[in-house]
Amino acid sequence: MMTIQRKLEELHRRNEEAGRGGGKERQARQKAAGKLSARERLELLLDEGSFEEIDKLVEHRCQDFGLAEQRVPGDGVICGYGRINGRLTYVFAQDFTVLGGSLSEANAAKICKVMDLALKVGAPVVGLNDSGGARIQEGVASLAGYADIFLRNTLASGVIPQVSAILGPCAGGAVYSPAITDFILMTDKTSSMFVTGPDVIRTVMHQDVTKEELGGPLTHNRVSGVAHFLASDDADCLALIRELLSFMPQNNHEDPPRAETGDAADRQDELLDTLVPAESDQPYDIKEVIDRVVDDGYFLEVQEHFAKNLVVGFARLGGRSVGIVANQPEVLAGCLDISASAKGARFVRFCDAFNIPLVTFVDVPGFLPGTEQEFGGIIRHGAKLLFAFAEATVPKVTVIARKAYGGAYCVMASKHLRTDVNFAYPTAEIAVMGPDGAVNIVYRRDLEQAADAGSLRKTKVEEFRRRFANPYIAAERGYVDAVILPRETRPRLIAALRMLDTKRETFPPKKHGNIPL
Ligand code: HXC
Repeated sequence: MMTIQRKLEELHRRNEEAGRGGGKERQARQKAAGKLSARERLELLLDEGSFEEIDKLVEHRCQDFGLAEQRVPGDGVICGYGRINGRLTYVFAQDFTVLGGSLSEANAAKICKVMDLALKVGAPVVGLNDSGGARIQEGVASLAGYADIFLRNTLASGVIPQVSAILGPCAGGAVYSPAITDFILMTDKTSSMFVTGPDVIRTVMHQDVTKEELGGPLTHNRVSGVAHFLASDDADCLALIRELLSFMPQNNHEDPPRAETGDAADRQDELLDTLVPAESDQPYDIKEVIDRVVDDGYFLEVQEHFAKNLVVGFARLGGRSVGIVANQPEVLAGCLDISASAKGARFVRFCDAFNIPLVTFVDVPGFLPGTEQEFGGIIRHGAKLLFAFAEATVPKVTVIARKAYGGAYCVMASKHLRTDVNFAYPTAEIAVMGPDGAVNIVYRRDLEQAADAGSLRKTKVEEFRRRFANPYIAAERGYVDAVILPRETRPRLIAALRMLDTKRETFPPKKHGNIPL
């Protein structure tokens, strides 16, 4: 038997000869494609000098299809652990230069080993994906390896944060591991994800589509909503992962880390008083409101390019991590639609699982009407967001900035869904629907019969507006805890979150709920 020392020497010799990984030529191809090597990626991701490698000597055991001669120590995936901003993080990085980073039985066992450790210890897992998928030569053994990873992704979901970077191809069933993880980041130009590739689509569906159109980073960030972040290149992506993890706890038993901030908790912002227009149909950018309220004006938006009518992301208030959910009046007037509901629901559930308080800004005229939405299942999808907010037990604070109409009022973290503190600006309008729609329904017969329908409509609209275009009826019933000036938003939110620091809330006993999927 080879001693460990001799094995290591052998490894170094072979690495030297091969020029690391799959050899100098393949490394050069990797570089020419605009991609870093797996080791370079880990160096950028982790704090300097913190990486500890596991299973460097593992090799595959496949003897078929000429693979016996293609054994590379580590077998195309670098696994281990290190530190990100001083905090323990488990990692795996697929090496595309070794058999296309394809997943073998041995390679999967290495990934499973770090995932098992991460789950036992309670620390995040970051996967750097760059792979041709299941190692074709290993057949079912490789498929089994994927299924072993999927199981661990599922068991770890809600226990430790899981982040997937797609830095090259991610094809076939392989996509389902990143899909189960909490966040997917894709690099511009170099990454792709699809279940069936362009060739299969051409053969089976007679459709021509390029790899980029089908599963490129723009498609998944803008159209499908599969990805959460678009990074310009590998280095940008790895820096973004470090930033993203800084908002999260290590596991579901911990609170997120507190950050120092020089931004005063009692800072008021007069400009906020004029930022939200009093006219209910005038658009404005809710992100400007968010930026003016949160610590140091720093907001890390999640899914920035998808379902822009709902804004979600991380920020800090008084040093505490918060998850922000906000209607965006600038896009679709801030209506909730299928995509926005699914986007919001997943984000709310992530925050709830990892003890990140939720701050919700409401300015919503309702659900987007139309056959496309109804046929697409807005009933089912809208219910996801409602379910997620209702289920969430983290501290929840809501600010109604302007419109809160109909079912969307209930959905957007209303008091009735166990929200702890509900504020409203004086511009808030809480009603079953807008005044025009209300008059058309309630006074339809009168309007049909009126000699001067125009002036009757005007009078009635005014009446509705006077009655409902304010937050005071809701405040009288305690559905709104306080009507605040927009300038006070930051101090009021920070005070509410501080008050809620030790919040504990429970569920009726059950195995799990049945969120409409
Ligand atoms: C074994 C593979 C491989 C694979 C690539 N290689 N994919 N080896 N199994 N799945 C090898 C190639 O033979 C080549 O070896 C090297 O990796 C680089 O591949 P190239 O094709 O030269 O690279 P490129 O032109 O950049 O194309 C990359 C690619 C293409 C788009 C990923 O290789 C490809 O289409 N691969 C197959 C993708 C696929 O269909 N995988 C199975 C998906 S199904 P040499 O020696 O020449 O360097 C799946 C099931 C999961 O994954 C099941 C879960 C339930």
